[in-house]
Amino acid sequence: MNIKDYLEQQRVAVDRFLDEVAPPVGTPPVTLHESMRYSLLAGGKRVRPILTIAAAEALGPPPPGLMAVACSLELIHTYSLIHDDLPSMDNDDFRRGKPTNHKVYGEAMAILAGDALLTMAFDLISRPDLMKGCDAGRQVRILQELALGSGNMGMVGGQVFDIQAEHKDIDLTALQNIHKHKTGMLIRAAVRMGAIAGGANDRQLDDMTGYAEDIGLAFQIADDVLNVTGTREELGKNPNTDAERGKKTYPTFYGVEGAKRLADECVTRAVARLGSFGSSADPLRELARYITARKN
Ligand code: IPE
Ligand code: IPE
Ligand code: MG
Ligand code: MG
Repeated sequence: MNIKDYLEQQRVAVDRFLDEVAPPVGTPPVTLHESMRYSLLAGGKRVRPILTIAAAEALGPPPPGLMAVACSLELIHTYSLIHDDLPSMDNDDFRRGKPTNHKVYGEAMAILAGDALLTMAFDLISRPDLMKGCDAGRQVRILQELALGSGNMGMVGGQVFDIQAEHKDIDLTALQNIHKHKTGMLIRAAVRMGAIAGGANDRQLDDMTGYAEDIGLAFQIADDVLNVTGTREELGKNPNTDAERGKKTYPTFYGVEGAKRLADECVTRAVARLGSFGSSADPLRELARYITARKN
């Protein structure tokens, strides 16, 4: 399988679905909806929804509601990026190749667009039309995974650990804890939500969770490395911002090459976790490798 073709095909499907479910242009409150669409449809690799799709498809044919489940993660992720870029957080001017949401719509609208995207994520996986045919018990478990991955014990908690660590001499354990929460928990939710939708048994869910935890760490290490080595053109966001903001990252502890090696080790471990799955899990294996090979 060619991972580039697979990613491109899935990305197009995700983009199309997001465009369909996003509030139509011109619906009041018009500026809110413009602001939501501005960030949501600005591109992005769509890694989290693609992970959900690949996890479900490793177990069998696409289950009912899979696209809504997958895209709910992109709504949460986009909201987290809008808020992450705010002046009171990372204060970034550039994201997904465009000025950040608050630079265009102002801080109040950016906060509200983020709030609305967060809420919409839960609407999406509750809607009877989009979730038709999904077992109700599974649907509740999926909702719960999304809440856990996003909230105080997940991404939001991680963002708190992250800002509290600025300009502090944190140790490696503290850094791991930041990464595990701010990035890892949503990636873990993405894989688990796909696995649950696909009807995973306990053992399969455990294996996929292990896989997700390893690639989640690899993903944030790669983000830290790219912050040092990438260009604005490649990344679609400004590089070198971690150092400017006094953030200790994997490259701070291990150097760029050491950090890359660690990310590769996570990927090897992640792939090994999928030993009991056949070729239907190849997209998950290739996604793990893509996470450290990517240039943006
Ligand atoms: C960036 O996420 C923020 C992190 C959690 C590391 P992505 O690298 O997935 O960003 P997009 O969605 O492609 O813009
Ligand atoms: C973002 O982490 C994690 C989120 C929950 C949004 P970073 O702040 O390190 O990511 P970038 O580099 O701005 O994309
Ligand atoms: Mg941040
Ligand atoms: Mg940031």
